[in-house]
Amino acid sequence: MNAIAPDSSHQNELKQQLRQLESIAALSGGIAHDYNNLLTAIMGNLSLALETMDADAEVTPLIENALAASRIAKTLTRTLITFSKGGLPAKTPTDIVRLVKNTAAFSLSGSNIRCEMVPASGIWPALVDAQQVGQAIHNLMINAAESMPSGGTVSIRFGNTTLDSPNTTLPPGNYVHIAIEDHGFGISIKNIDKIFDPYFSTKGKGEQKGTGLGLSISHSIIAKHGGKITVHSRVGVGSTFHILLPASDPSAKIEPPKKETKTAAQPEKAISGRGKILVMDDEVMILELAGNMLQHLGYEVDFAEEGETAVHKYKSALASSAPYDAVILDLTIKGGMGGEDTIRQLKEIDPSVKAIVSSGYSENPVVANYADYGFCDVVAKPYEMVEFSQKLHRVVNAL
Ligand SMILES: Nc1ncnc2c1ncn2[C@@H]1O[C@H](COP(=O)(O)OP(=O)(O)OP(=O)(O)O)[C@@H](O)[C@H]1O
Ligand SMILES: [Mg+2]
Repeated sequence: MNAIAPDSSHQNELKQQLRQLESIAALSGGIAHDYNNLLTAIMGNLSLALETMDADAEVTPLIENALAASRIAKTLTRTLITFSKGGLPAKTPTDIVRLVKNTAAFSLSGSNIRCEMVPASGIWPALVDAQQVGQAIHNLMINAAESMPSGGTVSIRFGNTTLDSPNTTLPPGNYVHIAIEDHGFGISIKNIDKIFDPYFSTKGKGEQKGTGLGLSISHSIIAKHGGKITVHSRVGVGSTFHILLPASDPSAKIEPPKKETKTAAQPEKAISGRGKILVMDDEVMILELAGNMLQHLGYEVDFAEEGETAVHKYKSALASSAPYDAVILDLTIKGGMGGEDTIRQLKEIDPSVKAIVSSGYSENPVVANYADYGFCDVVAKPYEMVEFSQKLHRVVNAL
């Protein structure tokens, strides 16, 4: 039994539902952004509190629990931001075999499911936003695992495909084909046309209940990349999801995978430092947080609520005997000049300016390729004390 999305019989209905979902996503994206700022204040202050108090104080485990919960909230917000990011994946030539392999290992870790990668060589790089496509693959892996509650194997195969016939729904060109096959309970004829619908779920009730958003998110991500996802399934035998993603030129330079920022428990200590730091952010609570963190670490700190003030302050400090040692710039400033324009102007004034970009949009091209824009590093919001202090120390001391 085959279901092909988005060409199935109820294509229009599906499209309309996806449009609705996308407008909800756009709204929740805005909320997620504000929420991310709040979370920065929550996590930042909790981590600062942990730094400042006695390790064996009675309240320490309570603060640690609150911090652990906010790390989960951070993951949820990230999912929401990824999904709501609208039409613009930040695409780079990516080693898709490696991306799928790493994602599958992460998705299935700790489960009773084995992943078998059918060896393939010469697979073209795909032109994708690794974080988004990773999310799409993750959702498929979780579904595959859930379809085999007593364990089993998921097989993943890759291939290169060239579409040249004009009667395919995709533009002619080179594509990478990924097939993810499980041997789970399969999908019934009654349901197969609905599985990509937002909120369609056959998963139980209570805590195990599914949101029914997993596949619609995967579908939306693949579609945004100019690709296609289809499924072939037989009840009692299993399901295979086929994905086609546009290939990039095989000779293109492949971006090394970005190191994950630490979200798990952070045993390391914050690093103190010295120097004068200018922080620019349009959220007063973030300025306050960064100010408290920096002062605790031993830095002198100054603030700007938008880019023009930051440039002005930087210029006068440079002309004085006490220039800034580093600046931390928020990427998006409501109603004012943001980080991208600010760094451009600062570079003109002082080509050796040391700047860190700070943003909740980790997939934003400026964040993803920060060095191309003149930044030395990036701190993703929400950040915690240890990571913040380490990055700043490296940048100020040009390590
Ligand atoms: N590999 C699979 N095997 C069997 N059924 C599947 C598989 N993948 C998806 N389905 C069916 O499609 C439905 C929708 O999947 P989707 O991932 O969108 O939501 P969900 O898994 O139910 O919920 P969530 O992803 O939020 O946990 C599932 O409830 C299930 O019925
Ligand atoms: Mg799911």
